Amino acid sequence: MTTHTSFTLNGQPVTTAARPDMTVLDLLRNEMSARGTKEGCAEGDCGACTVLFRRGGQEGAELLAANACIMTVAQIDGGEIVTVEGLGGTKGVLNAVQDEMARNGSSQCGFCTPGIAVALSGLLARDPDPDEAAIHDALAGNLCRCTGYRPIVDAARAAAARLKAVDAEPNAAIAERTLVSSHTDASGVTAHRPHDLRGLLKLRRDHPDAVLLAGGTDLAVPLAGYETRWPVIIHTGHVAELRAIDTADETWTFGAAVTWEEALESVREEYPSFATLIRRFGSTQIRSMGTIGGNIGTASPIGDGPPALIALGATITLASLKGGERTMALEDFFLDYRKTELRADEVIVSVTVPRARQGEVMRTYKVSKRYDQDISTVCGAYWLRMDGDIVGDVRIAYGGMAATPKRAPHAEAALRGRALTVEAARAAGAALASDFAPLTDWRGSDRYRARAAAGLLERLARELSGETVEVMAL
Ligand SMILES: Cc1cc2nc3c(=O)[nH]c(=O)nc-3n(C[C@H](O)[C@H](O)[C@H](O)COP(=O)(O)OP(=O)(O)OC[C@H]3O[C@@H](n4cnc5c(N)ncnc54)[C@H](O)[C@@H]3O)c2cc1C
Ligand code: FES
Ligand code: FES
Repeated sequence: MTTHTSFTLNGQPVTTAARPDMTVLDLLRNEMSARGTKEGCAEGDCGACTVLFRRGGQEGAELLAANACIMTVAQIDGGEIVTVEGLGGTKGVLNAVQDEMARNGSSQCGFCTPGIAVALSGLLARDPDPDEAAIHDALAGNLCRCTGYRPIVDAARAAAARLKAVDAEPNAAIAERTLVSSHTDASGVTAHRPHDLRGLLKLRRDHPDAVLLAGGTDLAVPLAGYETRWPVIIHTGHVAELRAIDTADETWTFGAAVTWEEALESVREEYPSFATLIRRFGSTQIRSMGTIGGNIGTASPIGDGPPALIALGATITLASLKGGERTMALEDFFLDYRKTELRADEVIVSVTVPRARQGEVMRTYKVSKRYDQDISTVCGAYWLRMDGDIVGDVRIAYGGMAATPKRAPHAEAALRGRALTVEAARAAGAALASDFAPLTDWRGSDRYRARAAAGLLERLARELSGETVEVMAL
């Protein structure tokens, strides 16, 4: 075990003795003099702190935008970070995005500008010819409150055109870097980085109180307040079994440390509605780091993954050194508010999701205050097997309606064996009153939630009958 963390910063190998539970933003600004990376919200919302990140052991993989304010030193050992200072490759040289932002007046107070330059450079590095939707998607996690987005989007278009004109290779927006790898630990705080499942389970058994850290997009939010400290960390991001996606004829098995951005690619074609939901999951920065296992492990009643996965009939596999593996329906994993089946010595290994079959339909709808970068007020997910016009079988799951993500057995019974008419959907909507007693909070009142959940069922029936449903930001 070593006492230092090593990584590549803007092409240079660096080593730090910083505590593994320090945020990367603090590391960059306070220890590495890389102050171009800004702190705005310090909780993953505004994108001022955006850096490009490639985790250790992923040589050749894309550099992805991530929020340094909710990333920790424990996650970067052996990895690579590019900050705004490194975009041009050489100090003082602007890359195409930075140059076009200057030319297009894409900045006023400038606070958001480094994060936007980094986010757009990340986009052009992986997609040199982005369409309008891809540019807006890349900017969904970056808040600019004074310039307005038109000149920013103009700069992105102009930079893409410039790179295309010189026939640049993907990654030309960013200089190529080398990767340095080593183990992690530091003064008083220990970060373990196992590489296989057995190593992970052993560490979990030996350190039941350790923080089990995946992407950190939930866990690291309180770190910015300097009140939370993590004496022992176990980082799952390098465990091969947890990083794997296994595509079989009838199922996908996603390792728990697979990120939402990676999962998106698998489901895009067969479950376009699920893909749209994932696309609305935080921002590119959040999806690049946030994992499926973390979304389930955090057991939030308003997490977006669980309702969709439950509706699809997903199963979850847990494992410990002592008890071995056990698999259960995902809906049975959630017991009560933030209480799950997970034992102190267990980890989530994977989630298995049935692939689409003939005659089956899946839809999921998220209701939130903003389209981008917002948590659900209500999230409805629906899977149906149609026998002609009749609902042969159905699974309905909601987030935001109870203390856990949960199925709606009464609403399901109201639809099973019936034609999916608007009347049937309204009857199922009325049956939701027997399934849920929703809470009132600042996202929505109990009445609002109940009406929204019923309304989504009606939307489902109308959409599946071929009607075009006009919705505001849903
Ligand atoms: C700005 C912002 C926007 C967000 N938007 C959304 C959104 O739109 N929808 C949404 O659902 N969520 C959203 N989130 C929440 C978060 O991004 C997700 O829940 C994400 O999937 C968490 O994954 P992670 O890898 O970052 O988890 P971490 O923060 O690393 O961990 C979360 C929890 O899961 C546990 N855990 C992680 N891996 C395992 C494992 N293998 N076994 C057992 N336990 C494990 C951890 O110990 C911890 O308790 C947002 C967060 C932020 C900061
Ligand atoms: S400082 Fe706002 S996302 Fe990091
Ligand atoms: S230029 Fe001021 S916040 Fe974007």
